[in-house]
Amino acid sequence: KILIVDFGSQYTQLIARRVREAGVYSEIHPWDMTSQAVREFAPAGIILSGSPESTVGEAAPHAPNAVFELGVPVLGICYGMQTMAAQLGGEVEVSAHREYGYARVRARGHSALLRDIEDEISPEGYGLLDVWMSHGDRVCALPPGFKLMASTDSAPLAGMADEDRHYYGVQFHPEVTHTRQGARILQRFVIDICGCRPLWTASNIIDDAMARVREQVGRDRVILGLSGGVDSSVVAALLHRALGDQLTCVFVDHGLLRLHEGDQVMKTFADHMGVEVIRVDAAARFLGALAGVTDPEEKRRTIGRLFIEIFDEEASKIADARWLAQGTIYPDVIESAGSKTGKAHVIKSHHNVGGLPEDMKLGLVEPLRELFKDEVRRIGLELGLPHEMVYRHPFPGPGLGVRILGEVVPAYVELLRRADAIFIEELRTYGFYDKVSQAFAVFLPVKAVGVMGDGRRYDYVVALRAVETVDFMTARWAHLPYEFLDHVSRRIVNEIDGITRVVYDVTGKPPGTIEWE
Ligand code: XMP
Repeated sequence: KILIVDFGSQYTQLIARRVREAGVYSEIHPWDMTSQAVREFAPAGIILSGSPESTVGEAAPHAPNAVFELGVPVLGICYGMQTMAAQLGGEVEVSAHREYGYARVRARGHSALLRDIEDEISPEGYGLLDVWMSHGDRVCALPPGFKLMASTDSAPLAGMADEDRHYYGVQFHPEVTHTRQGARILQRFVIDICGCRPLWTASNIIDDAMARVREQVGRDRVILGLSGGVDSSVVAALLHRALGDQLTCVFVDHGLLRLHEGDQVMKTFADHMGVEVIRVDAAARFLGALAGVTDPEEKRRTIGRLFIEIFDEEASKIADARWLAQGTIYPDVIESAGSKTGKAHVIKSHHNVGGLPEDMKLGLVEPLRELFKDEVRRIGLELGLPHEMVYRHPFPGPGLGVRILGEVVPAYVELLRRADAIFIEELRTYGFYDKVSQAFAVFLPVKAVGVMGDGRRYDYVVALRAVETVDFMTARWAHLPYEFLDHVSRRIVNEIDGITRVVYDVTGKPPGTIEWE
């Protein structure tokens, strides 16, 4: 196993993820862990993360001494390389400007870390790598025993290696995908240099999570709010396997789900898997509460508040429940930490993150807290969930409530649901569903004139939205073929009485958001 020493970089979790992708177990610990803790961890190798801090100065964070006493391979990334240099007798200088962005690195000296890993070979025979840099300070003198491993035009010491001790430092970030060969470099380090075996697979992750959950809750009852989304579904499957009938799921159907969605959730979990699911049909309450509400944020708050209220009511009926399970995944953790410290602007309030009442007396069980979405999906498949459920596009907590502009009127919900189902069905039929990241229909409560047969129609408008994105923070609208859009539009207008027009949204994010409200 690999120890990742965290100096506070925003990329630290990505290091862990790349290491896991290489099939190796790793843990992240803060830089001020004790040397004894490092020894007890008994790592096969250590990775020192980047940091927003400066290595220069008395109070600069540094790696525990044991890191350089254990005799195991060490890889320092960015700040990790700088502190390695500083702690082993090299020098670091404060640089006036931050280097930030792509850089081209020349590999030098045939290190074990970078050997034969390159994007291109220079005329002089150097390996060339396109990498992502983000740093201020830099190493200006190598520590004794180190050789130059890589350089760029602006950072002559962009990489260093002490092959005898298996110590490596890179100024760039191999953990981000912008560094094209980054995953290979980290794999080289953990597998070839540290000698770890790639045993950390989906099934091991599941075993480990199950063991931890059992240890945490013992024989107590656990309740879980099941939404039908990927994350809560995977938690349900995982906890059911770990705890059997100690798990009770509460599925609050707010009446703003997609066509047949509620029934599918029940079929998958209650019928097929034998999970105890209490379905609360609360459509009427939600629609009642939403009557007359037109402001998007107020709609979100209304839905969020009621959701928690109803969930609470149900939860309190389960007398012996001691734990509340949640499908929190790592990006949620970053996001809500960001908004709590005021670092990230709250563009929209995501009610399923951090919206728990303060007085809940239940302990939290969050078995996916350290995982990224694609890892959650892989373990979902491994747990036997249907592919369709695991690879489903994200769906907002407030559901169709934020896809009907303005007031949520029951008749609109019905129209939108049908239009959305046609769009999604055709995306699947034509093989576009998995090519776009998210697609849906939006209901516009304005009327437009149309003609059908000999008659005039005067009905509503639906907008189709499909986007491609990796992180949902930025997105481009999907360039779906005209013929396809034509086909979907015809079906919607012909089959749904009440819709006369279909438009396609060609706005990116930014300046738009993915949802319309
Ligand atoms: P936006 O519209 O902000 O959406 O570009 C980014 C992603 O977040 C989803 N989204 C939500 N998810 N509750 C959620 O659980 C919400 O209130 C919410 N609003 C947006 C959106 O579907 C997209 O995937």
